[in-house]
Amino acid sequence: MVFSSSLRKEARQALEKAIIYYHGVPVGTVAASDSQTDPVNYNHCFVRDFAVSAMAFLMNGEVEIVRNFLVETLKLQSCDREMDCFKPGQGLMPASFIIENNAAGEEIIKADFGELAIARVTPVDSGFWWLLILRAYVRATGDLSLARTAEFQKGIKLIIDLCLTNRFDMFPTLLVPDGSFMIDRRMGVHGYPLDIQAQFYASLRAATELIEPGDDYIQIIEERLGHLAYHIRNYYWLDYQRLNEIYRYKVEEFGKTVTNKFNVYPESIPEWLNVWLPDKGGYFIGNIGAGWMDFRFFSQGNLIAIISDLASEEQSLQIMNLIEQKWENLIGQMPLKVCFPALEGRDWHIITGCDAKNMSWSYHNGGNWPFLLWLLAAAAQKMGRKELAERAVSIAESRLHGDKYPEYYDGLNGRLIGKEARSLQTWTIAGFLAAQDLLNNKNNLDLICFDEEPVVMSCS
Ligand code: GLC
Repeated sequence: MVFSSSLRKEARQALEKAIIYYHGVPVGTVAASDSQTDPVNYNHCFVRDFAVSAMAFLMNGEVEIVRNFLVETLKLQSCDREMDCFKPGQGLMPASFIIENNAAGEEIIKADFGELAIARVTPVDSGFWWLLILRAYVRATGDLSLARTAEFQKGIKLIIDLCLTNRFDMFPTLLVPDGSFMIDRRMGVHGYPLDIQAQFYASLRAATELIEPGDDYIQIIEERLGHLAYHIRNYYWLDYQRLNEIYRYKVEEFGKTVTNKFNVYPESIPEWLNVWLPDKGGYFIGNIGAGWMDFRFFSQGNLIAIISDLASEEQSLQIMNLIEQKWENLIGQMPLKVCFPALEGRDWHIITGCDAKNMSWSYHNGGNWPFLLWLLAAAAQKMGRKELAERAVSIAESRLHGDKYPEYYDGLNGRLIGKEARSLQTWTIAGFLAAQDLLNNKNNLDLICFDEEPVVMSCS
């Protein structure tokens, strides 16, 4: 497919303009270059946003900025061993950073681990994105030497330690608070949200490639990978057949061999689901916990599950089928809905805490986010459904430039520019560029996809 070269050129220039420098070298990109609105923290470089910029840079042969980013952010990683609840835990990567001048007029990097962020949310995903950027850098350059330095090996292991430490539960998934990833507000995404589990899985796989062969960590990680894949593939999967099983679940079962492990009451199946779920297609639900299945569809988690091979081959094909069948809902007039459906009425009231920015069908609550295009392009390309991503990129291409690359769109089908969306949002620009680069050159998949499947192990 031929995309407009003048639009691509313009998007590239906009991405270059978003670059921030530290002591004269490029180290990141601001979240948005919108000069019309109060920047709040959109003048920071967010680790998760930069992951998308990094893909667009690497696919364009610009490796230096990515290397500098990795080196500088590694220096920011919390290495504090002290048990101090007012300091970020050892291994945590910051949500964002900004370059400022100190009293002596020298440039310094100031990081935010969530202690400054709106609602003080902890960025669980930053460490994962850092690992995935590092792995993409290694794939793009063929140079493992940076990753294998003592500092980098230590940094990788600190992230892994933080995730694999013993906790209060006995699941292979990761227990996190609300707002710990891209959805960094209260949205009922605490517990075991799919987005985090998919990133966790992809990052563990990246770590097995980055850690020195023969290291004890590799075996520990591989074991976890097997359990994690088993857990997600079995308990998070939903298609018409599975819905029928849940609908007829017995409850209050005790012991080892029960079917309804989480004691989910069939009455808790939301009304919309039975109408919405197509005969053909399936997806991983958003979350599972005691007496709770969050049936919402979350795009990022499902797409990363495909790319990382967390989803089986059949499940990956079914997710792509679902996206095709539910095109109007999930893609509509701007790819891609962050989650579907939106929380409405009393649910919105209780679950978001009356968050006006997250009103129904806006922002994280059912808004459409064009940055997700790169993940759609990668997943579609991987599963032989390139035509779906090409259709989606064409829709974006017809609007993004004229709309000044907004952060997100609103409405049932993503027709309206987001109520509080920043313009010239960097990951919108980068996601659009990376999606085109993935569709134009299949080799780019190599930066982000994982193929060979590790052994899937049951938990018992
Ligand atoms: C908002 C988004 C978050 C993003 C940040 C910068 O806080 O919710 O995911 O990283 O803006 O773009």
